[in-house]
Amino acid sequence: MPLLPLVLLSGIAIGELPETSSPPSAAPAVAPAYAEDGSLLRPEGFEEWVFVGASLGLSYSPHKAEYGDEFFHNVYLDRRAYEHYVRKGEFPEKSMLAMSVYKQASKAEGPAKLQGSFEGEFVSLEVAVKDSERFEEGWAYFDFSGGETQKRTAKPFAREKCYNCHAEHASEDNVFVQFYPVLRRLKADAPNESE
Ligand code: HEC
Repeated sequence: MPLLPLVLLSGIAIGELPETSSPPSAAPAVAPAYAEDGSLLRPEGFEEWVFVGASLGLSYSPHKAEYGDEFFHNVYLDRRAYEHYVRKGEFPEKSMLAMSVYKQASKAEGPAKLQGSFEGEFVSLEVAVKDSERFEEGWAYFDFSGGETQKRTAKPFAREKCYNCHAEHASEDNVFVQFYPVLRRLKADAPNESE
């Protein structure tokens, strides 16, 4: 059996190995990008961020029943922000959260009907960005759904459309950590960092 480390190191002189004092980060630097008019560019590849939680039909809206459909929500946190959250327990500047929304679907299959529901038609992509240099409140909210096609850019919503509900109901820094098991769990196990 070949010695794996030797194979991996072949061709690299030992003297060139990087110092190991700071651990290498696997996270590609993802930061919010804006168009000239200040719109946010649709974050590509958000499905490769850290998946923090999902919900079905979750809403504070009193009008929910009128819509009939219950939507699936999938929430992702960009990896750089996630790693910071793991270490410090807070969301750094330039954090981005993406929430993809799907219609609930079910299927009748033969005489034995398939039970339960799955994520059917894609409905929208909503994004939250923490960028205090740009937005007075710190967090800004965007929606990339635009009818048939998804929008490439989106303008921030007015405070009363999105921000206020997040500020009022979200458990931590405008983010609904209470509904995201991956972050919730971290919080519960977080070592007491003295800094
Ligand atoms: C009435 C309350 C309410 C309003 C208004 C609201 N949200 Fe949210 N939002 C929620 C709740 C509850 C969640 C928790 C996750 C879920 O829905 O599955 C959430 C989660 C999110 C997330 C995932 C990240 C996070 O912050 O937790 C994004 C992105 C988001 N909302 C975008 C928006 C946008 C864009 C608007 C405005 C168009 C908006 N929200 C308005 C209640 C609200």
